[in-house]
Amino acid sequence: MIKTAREQELLGAIDPGKIPFHVAIIMDGNGRWAVEKGLSRHEGHRQGVETVRETVKNSSELGIKVLTLFAFSTENWKRPATEVSYLMSLPEKYFKSELPELMRNNVQVRLIGDREKLPRKVQKAVEEGSEKTKNNSGMILNFALNYGSRAEILMAVNRLINDTRDGKIKGGINEKTFSQYLYTSALPDPDLLIRTSGEMRISNFLLWQLAYSELWFTDVYWPDFSKVHLLEAVFDYQRRKRRFGKIQDSER
Ligand code: FPP
Repeated sequence: MIKTAREQELLGAIDPGKIPFHVAIIMDGNGRWAVEKGLSRHEGHRQGVETVRETVKNSSELGIKVLTLFAFSTENWKRPATEVSYLMSLPEKYFKSELPELMRNNVQVRLIGDREKLPRKVQKAVEEGSEKTKNNSGMILNFALNYGSRAEILMAVNRLINDTRDGKIKGGINEKTFSQYLYTSALPDPDLLIRTSGEMRISNFLLWQLAYSELWFTDVYWPDFSKVHLLEAVFDYQRRKRRFGKIQDSER
């Protein structure tokens, strides 16, 4: 594919040694993208899956090690039944067509969220995708499906209470212990959160894990999010001063 001038400029300006390890994305605006074009909302989600394909490839090529995509929230069940049903058909279609490419790119698929409440066919599709890619050593592609951060935190608290009662936890609970009870237990926190479509909210996504993440918002709707937008986000990220609450030597 031909690189645009801006893409080339960004690729030249991005420091390959400072690529964010974990990028999380709230993929928003499928509906508005479709409605503004006189298309059905389903068409917006269909195009959204195309953007998922491209973004997975671009992220992996760029050297991002973990990509977490918010694909369906615990609140999305409140949408009309036809839309929920369409969204629930996407993981199966995605894995059916995308598995060879995921294998070629050495991508390992995982799921975060309450899988028990997902339709059986979705559970099966994601489990198969995870199983077949489990030995891949490249980028981890984490799909958040039926995910809600408050529910995740409560799940962790309840499991901690049980484990404390069973005597499995000695000497109190610190941040590290707590993190291990979340769906993201084995992963470092996101360095960068991207949200498309101009909304500036976190929307119950990774509330604990985003404590020190850099936030990057764009007005672009998710179906229009392209490589150049990903590069812009990474370029901006590399110019942020991450202090984690401290001050830098130069500021003393
Ligand atoms: C938000 O747009 C998007 C969603 C609720 C669904 C996101 C899902 C995908 C992009 C596809 C997921 C892909 C796989 C493989 C599972 P919106 O509908 O809220 O847009 P709006 O705010 O403009 O209405």
